[in-house]
Amino acid sequence: MPKNPIKLKPIIERGLLVGVAIKGQPAPFTLDDSLDELARLAETAGVTVAGRLTQTLERPNPATLIGKGKLEELVSVVRGEDIQVVIFDDELSPRQQREIERAIDDENVKVLDRTALILDIFAQHAHTKEGALQVELAQYEYRLPRLTRAWTHLARQAGGRAGGASGGVGVRGPGETQLEIDRREISRKIAQLKRELADVRAHRERYRARRRESHLPLVALVGYTNAGKSTLLNTLTPARVLAEDKLFATLDPTTRKVLLPSGREALITDTVGFIQKLPTDLVAAFRATLEEILEADLILHVVDASHPNALEQAAVVEEVLDDLGAGHIPAVTAFNKIDLLPGGESPPELREDYPDAVAISALQGRGMDALLQRIDATLIARMRPAQVFIPYDQGELVDLFHTYGVVEEERHEGAGVRISGRLPQTLAGRFESYEI
Ligand code: GTP
Repeated sequence: MPKNPIKLKPIIERGLLVGVAIKGQPAPFTLDDSLDELARLAETAGVTVAGRLTQTLERPNPATLIGKGKLEELVSVVRGEDIQVVIFDDELSPRQQREIERAIDDENVKVLDRTALILDIFAQHAHTKEGALQVELAQYEYRLPRLTRAWTHLARQAGGRAGGASGGVGVRGPGETQLEIDRREISRKIAQLKRELADVRAHRERYRARRRESHLPLVALVGYTNAGKSTLLNTLTPARVLAEDKLFATLDPTTRKVLLPSGREALITDTVGFIQKLPTDLVAAFRATLEEILEADLILHVVDASHPNALEQAAVVEEVLDDLGAGHIPAVTAFNKIDLLPGGESPPELREDYPDAVAISALQGRGMDALLQRIDATLIARMRPAQVFIPYDQGELVDLFHTYGVVEEERHEGAGVRISGRLPQTLAGRFESYEI
């Protein structure tokens, strides 16, 4: 993110969406649903969707992705409908992008893919230094092999290190004039960003270490983009986190304290929204953010139960969690936005797959008590049963047990206190020599 973004009026561009289905290749979403989502992404980035083109193919064309005839149709739609940006739902190789640009032969028309679009949205929504650096790095790495006529032309038009809305969709973020300078310069910039990121991460690691010492359980909020994670965090805690009806409003984790019904506290942290077709190298770029999830004692999976693709979205989230190695962490599922559902009832197919889900409306604050009870109970179940006898001269350990553990029974005896209950795993060592 540029340090001094120049505020310009948002550029509204006319966009054409292009989607391809490959015969026999399983996809989490139907072509139409995937394009609906792409349309939402495009609108979030300030594009007015003027049309869609789809094609079902035996296999992708290595040179142009779509077939020759379809490409001709695309070119005529672009000319006839005054399209300024063509957005492919699937990742384009640098070669495919070049060939398609060549066929369109108009340097005022940009060719983007889903990845470039998501990166563009990320660039607008990175709030912390780490988030901004990650996006900038990912954009440079993405653009390096794709430096083409259209990009450099737009770079000259934008004329300066301008962020915000300058240059329109796909070319926001790293200073546009940077794209004109040679690849060596960009490679140097990439190396520098990596060094800066390493510094920021070292700082974050120190912060994490302090958090671990706090012995408070950590709850990671996860969910498909727009599921309502930020809204839920706002409702559960007095924190003010940006909640917008835009995809990927959250790019950086925000951690807050929440009071559980048992009287204990937990930390709850927001994470970046998930989305299908996110290329693995892009997921890797945000790994540091997602790694927060691996440290969690509990995953709170927020599902937008009012979305027609709720099940598919939930499956994408679970797949990413598995890939991250977080599949073993206990999870609580929350069906959000039930206020939008007739009778406040979540659809039967959702309930069938997630019989234990808690129905909530983060916006109206409905179901919050039940959700907190479930979180509390799941965290307690994860704690270790403990029976200890603590001598009176170790009074601070009794306090520790009360603050971070769950006391089920406590008896004062001659020389000390006998407690049975449960303790967080991180504290078990402190009580080892007093176990009975
Ligand atoms: P990302 O940043 O994309 O990951 O989104 P998020 O999961 O943090 O979603 P966010 O909280 O920003 O909410 C997305 C949109 O859904 C906003 O317009 C919210 O007002 C709306 N929303 C969230 N919860 C509810 C709810 O319970 N009911 C209704 N009707 N809308 C909700």
